[in-house]
Amino acid sequence: MTTDNQLHVAIVMDGNGRWAVARGLPRVAGHRQGAQVVHDIVAAAPGLGVTALTIFAFSTENWKRPADEVSYILHLFVAMVTKWLPELVSQHVRVRVIGDRGALPPDVRASVETIESRTASCDGLHLNVALNYGGRAEILHAAQAFAADCAAGKASPSDLTEDRFDSYLWLRGEPAPDIVIRTAGELRVSNFLLWEMAYAELFFLDVLWPDFSAATLESVLQEFRSRHRRFGGS
Ligand code: IPE
Ligand code: IPE
Ligand code: MG
Repeated sequence: MTTDNQLHVAIVMDGNGRWAVARGLPRVAGHRQGAQVVHDIVAAAPGLGVTALTIFAFSTENWKRPADEVSYILHLFVAMVTKWLPELVSQHVRVRVIGDRGALPPDVRASVETIESRTASCDGLHLNVALNYGGRAEILHAAQAFAADCAAGKASPSDLTEDRFDSYLWLRGEPAPDIVIRTAGELRVSNFLLWEMAYAELFFLDVLWPDFSAATLESVLQEFRSRHRRFGGS
């Protein structure tokens, strides 16, 4: 839920492959252009009132893709964020990676840890990058961690509330997304933020992610402000 002036936007950045193929380029060219868009959106988001941005970069199902595309995406992301680090720090952006990082290549994992520690004390935009992330995996991981605490005598099943369960999620500490955007026209959530998006306002856009811009985000925010969120009330 939106609290105070917090505004959390989550994005399924889809359509990189189609963008590239439409130009006769290899799919990876779409991923590269898509990363550039991430850079521009991160820069624009705070000025549009966004306080947290959670972006889906690689899903637990994306391992089904050819190995060279998988490796390209995983390395591209951390390489780009590492390159932007001085700029991100000067913009006070705190970067956190959510997902099952145990399965990431060791060099990617090491870069993730550097990125997180270099930005840990930043108090501006919260940028959460979902890398090897799946909503079901996140819920399962939280359930296992809670069960382990119960077995160790640190928790008991009757303690479990929604807030307590939140504290076991990879995205813990972040208010639930107010807005979930999916680009590229598919009308599905593809295992993104299943627990957290319970009351998010959904936006399905036809625009491919590499064509997304600050102006696209601004128009989503404008429509969001005109929607009436009831949270089950009347
Ligand atoms: C989104 O673009 C990026 C990832 C899923 C990593 P896609 O690569 O899925 O692009 P399309 O859907 O094939 O166009
Ligand atoms: C969702 O896009 C995952 C990311 C954007 C990282 P996909 O392209 O993997 O989703 P499907 O396969 O169309 O459902
Ligand atoms: Mg896709």
